[in-house]
Amino acid sequence: MSSKPTTCAVILAGGQGKRMKSGLPKPMFEVLGVPMLDWVIKACEDSGIKDICVVTGFNREVIEKHLDGKYHTVFQPERLGTGHAVMMASDWLAEHKGSSVLILNGDAPFIDKETILGALWHHEKHNNAVTVITAEVDDPTGYGRILRHENGISGIVEEKDASPDQKLIREINSGAYWFCADKLLSALSEISPNNAQGEYYLTDTLFVLIGKGERADAYISSDPKTVLGANDRRGLLLLNNTARFDVIDRLMDEGVEFTCTDGVTIGRDVHIGAGTVIMQGVIMRGRVSVGEGCVIGPNCLIENCEIGRHVTLNSVQAYDSVIEDGAKIGPFVQIRPGSRICRDVKIGDFVEVKNSVIGENTAVSHLTYVGDSDVGSGVNFGCGVVTVNYDGEKKSRTVIGDNAFIGCNTNLVAPVKIGNGAYTGAGSTITKDVPDGALAVERTTARIVEGFGEKRLKGRIEKNNEKLRRDHEEN
Ligand code: UD1
Ligand code: CA
Repeated sequence: MSSKPTTCAVILAGGQGKRMKSGLPKPMFEVLGVPMLDWVIKACEDSGIKDICVVTGFNREVIEKHLDGKYHTVFQPERLGTGHAVMMASDWLAEHKGSSVLILNGDAPFIDKETILGALWHHEKHNNAVTVITAEVDDPTGYGRILRHENGISGIVEEKDASPDQKLIREINSGAYWFCADKLLSALSEISPNNAQGEYYLTDTLFVLIGKGERADAYISSDPKTVLGANDRRGLLLLNNTARFDVIDRLMDEGVEFTCTDGVTIGRDVHIGAGTVIMQGVIMRGRVSVGEGCVIGPNCLIENCEIGRHVTLNSVQAYDSVIEDGAKIGPFVQIRPGSRICRDVKIGDFVEVKNSVIGENTAVSHLTYVGDSDVGSGVNFGCGVVTVNYDGEKKSRTVIGDNAFIGCNTNLVAPVKIGNGAYTGAGSTITKDVPDGALAVERTTARIVEGFGEKRLKGRIEKNNEKLRRDHEEN
């Protein structure tokens, strides 16, 4: 019984992407908030490829820091072409003799499991030395063109080296290939930079292999999108818009309603329940889950949050937090990391919550800051309450019991505890714990000065009359 070859992948991420005009290596530019390199790595992992080698080059530190030792990397000290980049992984490839190796571009994020595994199946079935993943596109400008003859493919020609006739070919090289590792290694040693760009083209290994009588073949991707890459900022925007509408499309199939897609950007790792309505200007990034029957938007930014069912969010920014069923939040509210907004809570305009639990049915209706606090259920916050959680050196917590009533403009100077059912008087600065059911008021006694306003008003009227008289005399 012959065993199937093992698989591994080399991802080319050494290029600068000059047209981006940035210090960031091109594969680190983001599509839907995720670096393109991570999309490519995910596609490998989704396909069951565990052994991955990333070729770094331009500003390698940025990529190495991002990968954080999770993947093998090799360094390409100068950009001498895609063939040269793969040569940098020669030692690593030598350790993978007998494997099928997938080569991918770090700047083509839409390569997916179906395409990778479809091409692998084709590659192994036909015992190919190389299988290039191709696509038929309307506009092939900038891509390498696939040259075909009666029995398959005869090579790949780059745009800059192509004849006018070759430029008309619409089947293009995606930059993704399956190679037999041993054959790739030997072919790499035979390519030279004799071309318009003076580079070592990886694509030239096809001519070498075909010249030796090896089988080279193409696997045409059923979805031309999978080969799209970004060469400049316009290309990056196109990738983002493509990905954006892919997600929106999937969500509509899952029963999500979009009243308008303007400014709606929802990441790939977002799950939204059926019957939820998304309005314009909603951005969801990272790991987000939203339950059924919610109304989100307009204008929300949600990052790494778990949102329950029947939640309403209007002009809310929420990060790394949990929002439970039935909560109604907004407009103009920020929920900062570490918060849990429990069932049926109401949070109104200009409220900020940070690292706090807000218990069930509590209302925080206007102009309030709740930071580092544990708030019970059924609590009512008056307008303008501030938890004073920071003394310039350390943060302290505020604890508020169930059914407490916090008067307007109360300052709660933490650490402080307000008991169950306790009240604070409007305008109080509370520095001591308040027992259950008590009222705490901290204000000076009001002083009433009789006739003060009356006197002031009389003075103002006299001054005004004087001015009118003068103006009249002057004119
Ligand atoms: C390459 C292919 C082209 C294909 C296209 C698909 C070659 C010669 N051409 O062209 O046929 O249609 O991809 O997008 O292979 N890189 C390095 N080191 C280098 C050069 C590039 O690591 O010295 C990396 C880049 O970071 C990038 C990838 O290789 O991720 C592709 O490089 P790029 O310069 O964009 O290749 P293209 O000219 O687009
Ligand atoms: Ca490219």
